Amino acid sequence: MSIRIVVLAAGLGKRMKSALPKVLHTVGGKSMFVRVLDAAASLSEKPPIVIHGKNPDALKASVSNRVINWVLQSEQRGTGHAVLQALPYLEDSELVVILCADVPLIKTETLQRLVETAKSSQGFSVLTVTLDNPEGYGRIFRKEDGTVEKIVETVDLEEGDQKIAECNSGIFAIQAGYLKRWLPNLNERNLQNELYLTDCVFFANEEKVKVVSLSVENPTEVLGVNDRKQLAQAERVFQSRIANNLLESGVTLLDPSRLDVRGELLLGRDVTIDVNVIFEGRVVLEDGVYIGPNSIVKNSEIGENSVVREHCVLESVSVEADCRIGPFCRLRPHTRLAREVTVGNFVEIKNSLIKENSKVNHLSYVGDADVGERVNIGAGTITCNYDGANKSKTIIEDDVFVGSNTELVAPVKISSGSTIGAGSTVTKNVEENTLVVSRVAQKSIAGWQRPKKDGT
Ligand code: UD1
Ligand code: CA
Repeated sequence: MSIRIVVLAAGLGKRMKSALPKVLHTVGGKSMFVRVLDAAASLSEKPPIVIHGKNPDALKASVSNRVINWVLQSEQRGTGHAVLQALPYLEDSELVVILCADVPLIKTETLQRLVETAKSSQGFSVLTVTLDNPEGYGRIFRKEDGTVEKIVETVDLEEGDQKIAECNSGIFAIQAGYLKRWLPNLNERNLQNELYLTDCVFFANEEKVKVVSLSVENPTEVLGVNDRKQLAQAERVFQSRIANNLLESGVTLLDPSRLDVRGELLLGRDVTIDVNVIFEGRVVLEDGVYIGPNSIVKNSEIGENSVVREHCVLESVSVEADCRIGPFCRLRPHTRLAREVTVGNFVEIKNSLIKENSKVNHLSYVGDADVGERVNIGAGTITCNYDGANKSKTIIEDDVFVGSNTELVAPVKISSGSTIGAGSTVTKNVEENTLVVSRVAQKSIAGWQRPKKDGT
């Protein structure tokens, strides 16, 4: 039986009070919509059907690289009405997995199990969840044989039934043939005057089709996000899930509740992550890497045993093994540090290569530079790479020593083995093994009297 994914995303999401469509708000750095598509992606080779409302431009733009079968639901008349719009695109024999785009933490394994329960029964299963506070959810009523008798929305419950704690998660696996037979017969005879998808259970029972269920163990997996409180809750659930996975995979987290992963984190053995670290995009940390407190690492790779100390910001950089970085340093895009490089405090590096064993220890700006091996860049060195219109390159060859408080006015090349005296402004290329000093010669005036304040 082939699988077809249908994602309901036509709701307005008014309670978010946002200009952004609700399902484009992110959890763990990825939109809820994309999380749901990703969770379901491996279930079916066919493109997912997404039910959207009016003005779907932002939704469509957010997944412009994917093949999606977009279907308009021009009026939001309920979940049953939403799925009704998908019927022309379904084949009777397909098993349809219906998902909500605002239930972002659903796991692929759970969807697979839901599919199995439907397949091993009569092609209709519902994912349920038992909640301490079921208010607002549709409740599950069971028959004596354990199959589902009906699902009743909170507002439609009769007195006394409010205490039922087992709820409809909103996620179903159901044969398309049933949907085609039953959905056109739905009616709006309920307190919300909506066409309820859940009423399919009624038709199933009329035709003696068994409705089976699968219950999620952890209710957070089907947490629905309607407002910013629930969004924040979903974010915390997601982050603690990630932190647990990291701990299980052998990473040391000084505090699992003070880590945020907003992307993909790939880690070697014995990695240590201190508190309040944020990872964004794709980050690779090889064996033995340490990331210090309050650092932000985005789209970067850090080689074995390198240390990033506290308060560093790294974006799109590649760091080889055994480097020492920070505290307080900023590595900007297209920076490459070769092995055993040291970058100290208050250093900014952009679009530069620093080769093995070189040091930029304090208070420097290195931009658009190629720095050779065993180079020492003194405190307060600035590559003047920008003339107000164009960027130019600075080349510093192997074994150069740049004294403190030096400006290197690009384009400029310092050849290997040369020394730049402290306080120099270098505007011309420097030959190999040469000393360049461009500061004003020191003047000494013996017995100099400082001026005195008038009237004293
Ligand atoms: C629905 C279920 C309820 C379940 C709950 C779980 C029904 C009748 N009720 O209630 O049993 O406990 O989800 O969260 O199915 N949508 C559309 N078009 C519409 C209406 C909704 O696309 O016309 C989409 C929404 O964008 C959302 C999903 O369907 O992704 C669920 O809709 P929502 O209104 O949130 O359903 P609930 O009232 O919460
Ligand atoms: Ca509703």
